[in-house]
Amino acid sequence: MQTASLSIVGTGIGLAGQLTAEAASAIKSADIVLSLMGDPIAEAWLRTLNANLEPLEPCYQQAGSRPRAYEAMVEKMLAGLRAGKRVCAAFYGHPGVFVSPSHEAIRRARAEGYDAVMLPGISAEDMLVADLGVDPGAWGMQSYEARDFFISARPVDPCAALVLWQIGVLGDGAYTEFTSRPAALTALADVLQETYPADHEVIVYVAATLPTAAPQIQSVTLATLHQADVDQTSTLYVPPLRAPLPSPARIALLERHLSGAG
Ligand SMILES: C[S@@+](CC[C@H](N)C(=O)[O-])C[C@H]1O[C@@H](n2cnc3c(N)ncnc32)[C@H](O)[C@@H]1O
Repeated sequence: MQTASLSIVGTGIGLAGQLTAEAASAIKSADIVLSLMGDPIAEAWLRTLNANLEPLEPCYQQAGSRPRAYEAMVEKMLAGLRAGKRVCAAFYGHPGVFVSPSHEAIRRARAEGYDAVMLPGISAEDMLVADLGVDPGAWGMQSYEARDFFISARPVDPCAALVLWQIGVLGDGAYTEFTSRPAALTALADVLQETYPADHEVIVYVAATLPTAAPQIQSVTLATLHQADVDQTSTLYVPPLRAPLPSPARIALLERHLSGAG
């Protein structure tokens, strides 16, 4: 008999073609697959790999708020383990990127003595890098959850790119609604204009999820950000404002240490 175990896998953003071989194997060999695919077509495809599939989406409606829904998802994963099953939880994208229940389930599973592993997938940010042709290694890339960025007044480096996730739920303070609030985008644009000019061009990005579709790349200025079409799958990309300048003091410091005089 197989021992109970938990595999948390990412299926990528693009349907079917972005599933890694190790993730496919974990899905196919599981006793039960719990899924959060965010799309009925993707869910139907996943079911062709393992018919014993239970979607986690109903947790949102049943729990009524995001935090309670996430707790219910964790408990579903743990319940399967405690029943002696090989549980696979499949999330679209990367299962550890902006997915708190996956990390929490692995932590609790290991604390209870079960084998638990996370297998990475292609995230929305990976798609953004490819579709927008930007290299995080060029001048750096800051990546924040939009509400955290806004509420906690995170500092911005205008020389590095800035990626803001979940701009569609920025105005949803309690995470109890699942719709976007255009007024929240105006507030976000105001904050960004503390660093960037009003005519700075930003991109509201949605990666294609179907092989036949193209990515949605809406280029708008900060002044017109509130007019952009934004939904729960939108990610904001803010390009760097200017190139970083080397610091003569830092160069001198490095040279002092390298010469042994530091
Ligand atoms: C809860 S996070 C899940 C991220 C996912 N785990 C990943 O690896 O990309 C949801 C956020 O991911 C981003 N996202 C999800 N799907 C996307 C898509 N098709 N295109 C662009 N961004 C997307 C959006 O910022 C969205 O609000």
